[in-house]
Amino acid sequence: MVPAAGRGERLGPGAPKALRELGGAPLLVHAVRALGRSRAIGLVVVVAPPDGVEQVLGLLDGHGLDGENVQVVAGGATRQESVRLGLAAVPADVGIVLVHDAARPLVPVEVVDAVAAAVRDGADAVVPAVPLADTVKRVEPRPNGEPEPVLDTPERATLRAVQTPQGFRRDLLDAVHAKALADESVASQDAPPAATDDAGLVERYGGRVVVVPGHEEAFKVTRPLDLVLAEAVLARRRASDGF
Ligand code: C5P
Repeated sequence: MVPAAGRGERLGPGAPKALRELGGAPLLVHAVRALGRSRAIGLVVVVAPPDGVEQVLGLLDGHGLDGENVQVVAGGATRQESVRLGLAAVPADVGIVLVHDAARPLVPVEVVDAVAAAVRDGADAVVPAVPLADTVKRVEPRPNGEPEPVLDTPERATLRAVQTPQGFRRDLLDAVHAKALADESVASQDAPPAATDDAGLVERYGGRVVVVPGHEEAFKVTRPLDLVLAEAVLARRRASDGF
């Protein structure tokens, strides 16, 4: 599944992030193709902006991604809601689901294969991740560039930057999304914030998540500089192997 319903405001004004162009095709098209390169993937469910289903269908069609193994559904206000709506469209007989951000257009097929294989081999939830180059500090957030008091510095060797696709036993992913929805409706005041990744929901409800090696080219296109980097990676791939 590819949740692609975010606005992507950190990238600057313009089209929804998933529809921004990279090397002549929208990020979303790259992401769908990246999943499609894996033999582990039988169906890709794309979660489009709520008002953009027709546009996304047209774009996928225009790039030859209109077969019966690609389906488009409308997303929601948060990533969590978009994934829940996407899950509802996954056929009942599918036992393993991978959730991949449209914003990670260049994930190598080896990462997709490794995540799927780890779930097939018995893991409940699998995330690809890479070690951090930067030291990370926890702070008390303050607005407008005010100095922020540092709380502590987690040991860098124990930290990982998490990527996608994240892979799940389908029944587990269904269950944690249903629980999160129920929790939201019971206590909107005290409800935990919407999850920024699906593995986070599994952790919240006591499930076991494991990490497999990610890849530096699976980075998320978030800020304008990321698009420059993505263009460079794509150009290098096209030059080296006619990708
Ligand atoms: O905002 P962020 O970069 O964390 O979004 C990650 C992915 O979730 C993106 O592919 C984005 O399109 C998707 N998303 C979504 N529905 C939302 C918000 C984000 O499908 N309401």
